[in-house]
Amino acid sequence: MCGIVGYVGNQEAAPILLDGLSRLEYRGYDSAGVAVHDGEAIHMLKASGRLQALRERVDAEGPLQGTCGIGHTRWATHGAPTQDNAHPHLSNDGKFAVVHNGIIENYLEQREELKARGFVFLSETDTEVIVHLMDMYYQGDLKQAFMQTAARLDGSYALGILCADAPGQLLVMKNASPLILGLGAGENLFASDVTALLPHTHNIIDLDDGEIALITSNDITVMDSLGNVLQKEVTRVTWNREAAERGGYEHFMLKEIMEQPKAVKSSIEPRIRDGRIVLDELGELARVLPQMERVVITACGSAYHAGVVAGYVMEDLCRIPVHVEVASELRYRNPLMDERTLVVVISQSGETADTIAALRECKRQGARTLAIVNVVGSTVAKLADGVLYTWAGPEISVATTKGYTTQLAVLSLLAIQLAWQRGTIDDARYQHLVGELQQLPSKCQRAIDLNTHAARIAKRYHGKRSLFYIGRNVDYAVCLEASLKLKEISYIHSEAYAAGELKHGTIALIDQNQLVIALACYQRLFEKLLSNVREVKARGARVLGVVREAERRIYSEADEALLVPDVDAMLVPVVEIIPLQLFAYHVAKCNGCDIDKPKNLAKSVTVE
Ligand code: G6P
Repeated sequence: MCGIVGYVGNQEAAPILLDGLSRLEYRGYDSAGVAVHDGEAIHMLKASGRLQALRERVDAEGPLQGTCGIGHTRWATHGAPTQDNAHPHLSNDGKFAVVHNGIIENYLEQREELKARGFVFLSETDTEVIVHLMDMYYQGDLKQAFMQTAARLDGSYALGILCADAPGQLLVMKNASPLILGLGAGENLFASDVTALLPHTHNIIDLDDGEIALITSNDITVMDSLGNVLQKEVTRVTWNREAAERGGYEHFMLKEIMEQPKAVKSSIEPRIRDGRIVLDELGELARVLPQMERVVITACGSAYHAGVVAGYVMEDLCRIPVHVEVASELRYRNPLMDERTLVVVISQSGETADTIAALRECKRQGARTLAIVNVVGSTVAKLADGVLYTWAGPEISVATTKGYTTQLAVLSLLAIQLAWQRGTIDDARYQHLVGELQQLPSKCQRAIDLNTHAARIAKRYHGKRSLFYIGRNVDYAVCLEASLKLKEISYIHSEAYAAGELKHGTIALIDQNQLVIALACYQRLFEKLLSNVREVKARGARVLGVVREAERRIYSEADEALLVPDVDAMLVPVVEIIPLQLFAYHVAKCNGCDIDKPKNLAKSVTVE
């Protein structure tokens, strides 16, 4: 998704903007641009493709001098990823420049009106209406023009604006798209994400929807949409810069895979005290949790896959009906729920547009809402009745790894606690599960030790055009995520299949060219899964079994195996996914793919 950044201070803005944009690269983009105010006028350069192309333009056609500017990485929605469509966009007289993340839903009608008034459009974007509206309303009072412009916009937007008449000043506004302000010494910034601010400051202001800010090098004034000045809290981010950088690993994805033992420990350890699970962060929600009659879990992408795991686990352990649904469906379905429904919303970023919309819809229907989120203070975290943070630390790679496993860890804590409160597990089982949770970080480490083995297998199979992941129960839920990992970063087609469904059609695709990865860690259905392995073997497929360390029978059935540390069945997914993340990583690496920035994908999908 688009990334925006702005700087005003005592240093040259262009290098700082380019550096900030490179820290937002992980969000996914296909063109980029910067605009800088040199004290007299606004100068702008844009390029399609990677940031390097923009850097080359700045080197060749710059320098872009000035200490105040805005930058943007664009993920195309309205119009192709061309230089003309890249941001910033300039007003016809060059007085205003804008960068925008989000979608202006009513841009077509604005565009028609502005065209009729003589404004000339140079791009196909929804964004360009904003600079022309600014131009139209501007009568010397910037704030006034900005408020009038904002009042005309429907949709989602994080905006950064430069005005030629106001050197040393940035205007920003947020509505349903992420935007953070950074307070430095003699310099101030804004960005879509805290990672772009960290080289300059750890002191941030979180803007809320509808808020506007006027930023100079020494001052930030935040106002509501009517222009009333607000006192905003300044928070200190504890993430350090190194944590957001690669730390010696070739890719962020690999670094983040390796960080999983530590991340899972951060999710679990503070929540177990004297052998008991403590979720006191939930406040009032904790009190009503045992009265819930139904659970609905909703999310997108990998977070949804974590929800699928939780669906199996919670219903089994807590004896409560659980429904799991992707947020983009739930939000438009007029779902049936009430105050006895607990809606669990899962999101790494907390900014996924569909997830936010589904959460709002569930709240509207009167459900109680609990968010499982990584990014502190994100929209999902703010909207829900209660939050359990995953404490995974910054996740940069587009393909999530530690984001997913920490979601599973937190969902496990929740499931065990709920089961205990509902009386569906006895104390012995409770204590056993808590003990298993405490051992999870070291089990994750053992799973990471499969790295060399996973790399060897990847080398053998990286040339496949398509493959299958099969499993049952939680193994099947992990298949969904393992298959997505492979598709996302290696562009190899794969399918996740409930093993029992194969014979209803898909088995027609199985032949000697297929690799079938059979996930068989879920002990209760091991024999059933083994039968499915025999079915595909009989049709000539090669089989990679993923089984518990203790389970040696796989060797007589599969061609090779990855042996996963033994854990309680409900925690299997946390360790089982790790060698499969590594497998996907090594396949993509063998195929020379851009692992941290897969084509067409974005880390945080802040538009619908
Ligand atoms: C994007 C990312 C996925 C992620 C999904 C949901 O598609 O590429 O990795 O799982 O969004 O993101 P969230 O931040 O809500 O977990």
